[in-house]
Parts: sequence; C-alpha cells; structure tokens
Amino acid sequence: PHVFYLCRHGQSEYNVLGKIGGDSGLSPEGDRFARALARFAETEICVDGNGLFGAPNSVVPARLWTSTLKRTRDTAQYIQHPKIEIAYKGDDIDGRPQTWVQMRPRPWSNLDELFAGICDGMTYDEIKEHYPDEFARRQRNKLAYRYPRGESYLDMIHRLDPMILEMERHREPLLIIAHQGVLRLIYAYYLGLPRESAPYVSIPIHTVIKLTPLVYECREERFELLK
Ligand code: G3H
Repeated sequence: PHVFYLCRHGQSEYNVLGKIGGDSGLSPEGDRFARALARFAETEICVDGNGLFGAPNSVVPARLWTSTLKRTRDTAQYIQHPKIEIAYKGDDIDGRPQTWVQMRPRPWSNLDELFAGICDGMTYDEIKEHYPDEFARRQRNKLAYRYPRGESYLDMIHRLDPMILEMERHREPLLIIAHQGVLRLIYAYYLGLPRESAPYVSIPIHTVIKLTPLVYECREERFELLK
C-alpha cells in the first residue's frame, strides 16, 4: 500500500513568539527536530522490511515534499540518503550502473500554510484587538472564513485537491513536511473526517504521523521524535 508520513515543520521563531504566518526560520528546538527527522527518515522511511528482491531491510527510495516556506525547507535540510546510491548502483538489469535516487526535497506552494492576509505576522491576541469582528466571524465558521486578502480552509482545500492526486501517483513512501493548517486537511481527507471538523484537528508538533490507507480504513501510527 501507499505509505505517507506527515509532519509539521520544527518549531519556528514565530511559533515561539505566538505569531501566525510569516516566513521565519527554526528555533534551536526546531532544529533539533530537523536532525531527529533525518535520522527517522534513514532508519524508518527508507527501509523496506520485505526488502527489494526479497532481501530484508534494504534501502528504498522515498519522496520528500515541503512547502515553499523557509521553516519547512529548513526542517528537511539534514535529510539525505547516501545509502540509496549503494542500493541502486550496478543493480540495473543489463549490469549498467543505474541512475540512483536521492531523497531530495521538492517544494510545493500548494503545501504553504493558510495565508492570513492582513493578519499575517500577528498573534491571536493582536488579531482580536485590532480586528474584533474578523476574529468573531472566524470563530463562527472557521472552515469558510477567509482572512481579508488571505485564505480560508475552503480555499486551501481547492489548492490541495491536485496534491492528493500527486500523492497517489507513485508507490514510493512519501514524507510531507508542511504546516498544521494544510496537514489538518490532508489528515482529515485520509481519515474520512467531515471537513467541518478538519480545522479543529490537532496536528502535534515534532511528531510524525504515518498513514497507510487501506481499502476500508486508514491505518495510523505516530512517532514523537523529541521527548
Ligand atoms: O498552527 C496554526 C495554523 O496556522 C492554523 O491555525 O487554527 O488559526 O487555523 P488556525
């Protein structure tokens, strides 16, 4: 089956300040997560228990997607897979060394976080203070609420639609490093949750969620990488 690994970027400088949006880098704790994630990719994601050609624990290529924002790209920065080269070299049927696959991050703007428009870079308290009506409107209908000059969760559903097709286009395991808002929608889609509840789903930080969609259900496992 397809296997997807979802995680938020490591803690960002804006997370520490309680600000939403922006394009900040990682905090030292976020950087610690990025390093732990690289180890996880090497020991969990790029390992096939059944093995290529039946060999146990062979190294498998995997896909790696991020958003275009600095905090997700920085979270991917330590992931690389030199071992894959060894697994593939010379494996070609005609004995030619095969082009090898590296786990190279691919940034997608579809995976960028919900854009808060005029509220980008504010804390929730600041939004409440400067735009009380907007704040109240969002509380009434979080799914449909669109920030002035920004986005709603419904807008995000539209830009994520083509991503779901892309996710299912190949068989290799896929690690997506993105943001809480976007991941809520991808998670809700696979778990079959009603979209009204999706904006409230908690996607914990520094945790990798492994999803294995099966015919009638979706298997889920969680890995807390920083304890
Ligand atoms: O981490 C928070 C995300 O930006 C989504 O936040 O609950 O205000 O939609 P939200």
